[in-house]
Amino acid sequence: MNNFLINQTQTFRFTEEQELLRKTIREVAEENFKEKARETDKTHKFPRENFNLLAKLGITGLIIPEKYGGSELDYISYVIAIKEIARVCAVTSVILGVHSSLCSMPIVKFGSECLKEKYLRKLACGELLGAYCLSEPGSGSDAAAMQTKAEDKGSYFILNGTKAWITNGSEADVYIVFAQTNPDLKHKGITAFILEKNIQGVSFGKLEDKLGIRASATCQMHLDNVKVPEENLLGNIGDGFKIAMSTLDRGRIGIAAQALGIAQASYDLASSYAKAREAFGQKIINFQAIQFMLVEIATEIEAGQLLTCQAANMYDLGLKFTRQAAEAKLFCSELASKAANKAVQILGGYGYTTEYDAQRYLRDAKITEIYEGTSEIQRIVIAENIIKTGLTHMSSN
Ligand code: CAA
Repeated sequence: MNNFLINQTQTFRFTEEQELLRKTIREVAEENFKEKARETDKTHKFPRENFNLLAKLGITGLIIPEKYGGSELDYISYVIAIKEIARVCAVTSVILGVHSSLCSMPIVKFGSECLKEKYLRKLACGELLGAYCLSEPGSGSDAAAMQTKAEDKGSYFILNGTKAWITNGSEADVYIVFAQTNPDLKHKGITAFILEKNIQGVSFGKLEDKLGIRASATCQMHLDNVKVPEENLLGNIGDGFKIAMSTLDRGRIGIAAQALGIAQASYDLASSYAKAREAFGQKIINFQAIQFMLVEIATEIEAGQLLTCQAANMYDLGLKFTRQAAEAKLFCSELASKAANKAVQILGGYGYTTEYDAQRYLRDAKITEIYEGTSEIQRIVIAENIIKTGLTHMSSN
């Protein structure tokens, strides 16, 4: 268990193991993902080789229990990994994030022993890549309004419908799919299933041509009379909405970490540029106008990191963390866009060209305000929790 220290004698800091993990991932990402991130932004080519490298290093099973071949590290370590990867390649960080928190974790939390044995080892070692299918063309924020149906046939279910905005799309091997087993019950009629790619009746739409994270292979999944054995039910019939929501709670901490990585990359680029660039006879870092922009980003990165680690720590400690996860995602995703925007501004004309990464950071940052729940949805989640419980001390809920 982690030691995110929050008492009077010790300050907020990573443990030695967490710090070692941070350094290792930073080196790996810098060395292997940096150039490719620029390339795949242009080609849209899904960087499976990045995922394979993370698999070799055991990162694809970072939060999966040891019993199923994972490293069973704490969630702060996961935040560290996602942030360091996102600092170099936002695409690779979301590939890993969806694989880990949105696909592997619901199996850890709700899967039968048989499903855990069948899927978790292969997800942990990266032999399988995971994805999560909740949204549909007509339902995003209002997740309970999904139209995909699962008809109970006794020993199996028949699924029909279209899921949308699937990160890892047709590149994935295993999918957590949500469908309506009893539409009259609205959210209480939603059920979760595990599907494999090569099952009859599953097909994929064209790749979405996106503003940012262009290589993350986002597409639709079509389900045409797909026969799913009852063993592939995740949890019980009707548990799907709660599985989806509690999974997103963990996922949102990962998106906060991804956003922090993008904000950090923006800060690093803007500050190094400002130290080198001269105007009016001196380095532009000497101008307060530039310093103030950098200070604002730096301070907010610190604040975002504390919010994100707090949410992760509360999850690790078994406390309710829905509000804290939403706060971290809301704050960090809006920070990522702001930081990238400031980086473009500090770089001036150069920031607006593809010669520098600032424009990519700006494009990549925007999605963190949208996926896994928009900023507006995070505000709703926070409001509901604050209204219910009041604004409580940071270590309780
Ligand atoms: N954990 C467990 N259960 C939860 C929960 C949580 N965090 N939040 C709500 N629930 C439960 C409630 O307790 C309630 O249960 P009961 O019926 O037993 O009382 C039930 O779920 C319904 O709750 P609400 O009435 O609050 O539900 P709602 O329909 O009003 O929706 C919402 C609430 C917050 C708007 C929710 O729909 C939501 O989060 N929407 C956003 C969906 C989203 O994030 N989509 C992202 C898609 S995934 C993605 O982006 C994929 C990718 O590849 C990156």
